[in-house]
Amino acid sequence: MKKIVFLTGAGMSVESGFKTFRGNDGLWEDFPVEQVASHEGWEADPTLVTNFYNMLRKKLWAAQPNEGHRLISQLEADFEVTVVTQNVDNLHEKAGSTKVIHLHGELAKVCSSRDPYNPKYIRELGPDDSDIAAGSKAGDGSLLRPFIVFFGESVPMIEPAALEAGKADVFVIIGTSLNVYPAAGLVRYVRPGCPIFLIDPDDVGSGGYRDITHIKRGASEGMRELCGILKEMK
Ligand code: APR
Repeated sequence: MKKIVFLTGAGMSVESGFKTFRGNDGLWEDFPVEQVASHEGWEADPTLVTNFYNMLRKKLWAAQPNEGHRLISQLEADFEVTVVTQNVDNLHEKAGSTKVIHLHGELAKVCSSRDPYNPKYIRELGPDDSDIAAGSKAGDGSLLRPFIVFFGESVPMIEPAALEAGKADVFVIIGTSLNVYPAAGLVRYVRPGCPIFLIDPDDVGSGGYRDITHIKRGASEGMRELCGILKEMK
């Protein structure tokens, strides 16, 4: 089976009711990104950050995957599919995708602020226990924090993601402005000769070093078009 690797960003979830990051005057869901998604922001006011993610989590439980998410998961019938996503929502999983790498963390999880990647202290939340009270502690006694990669922190999942990109027979980028590294650099691991598609209604600066076929549409419509092309590539 041929391998398709997707790299998705905020635009993937727009049709499911989430906002993108850029193009909103630096606001993420009406909050300044530095306040709610940076290491300094967390240190300055963990209560505000905790409450922000409580709010976002409520939105997540109500959100549904869109047709774009579903078409990606259905491709697993004919291809080996890996989704590398910058999104912290779980809509790819909800749509049925079985191999999803989250580069920037997961909204549905909380962790220790001293030892964020220690699985012992990572807790998965559900709709019934999703509000974290400010000041709650992880098992190691440190403040419980959202399992989110903040600006200014390392991105450990970039390594498995780069390995996947290097094995792709087809690479597809959906709904990301390719502004944030290391995610934006993933395309550089794609083998020479591997076709690269971009689905985005707007122009995206991709570095221009490789031929990229731009399907200038939203995620669902673009995925429908891409599935027609992929049929010939099975
Ligand atoms: N379908 C597909 N793409 C869309 C749609 C849509 N319906 N609507 C908008 N887009 C595109 C925009 O044209 C833009 O290119 O989605 C892209 C969103 O870009 P950004 O807002 O920059 O989001 P993203 O690239 O995911 O941001 C990367 O930045 O703040 C951090 O950690 C955060 O993961 C995030 C990272």
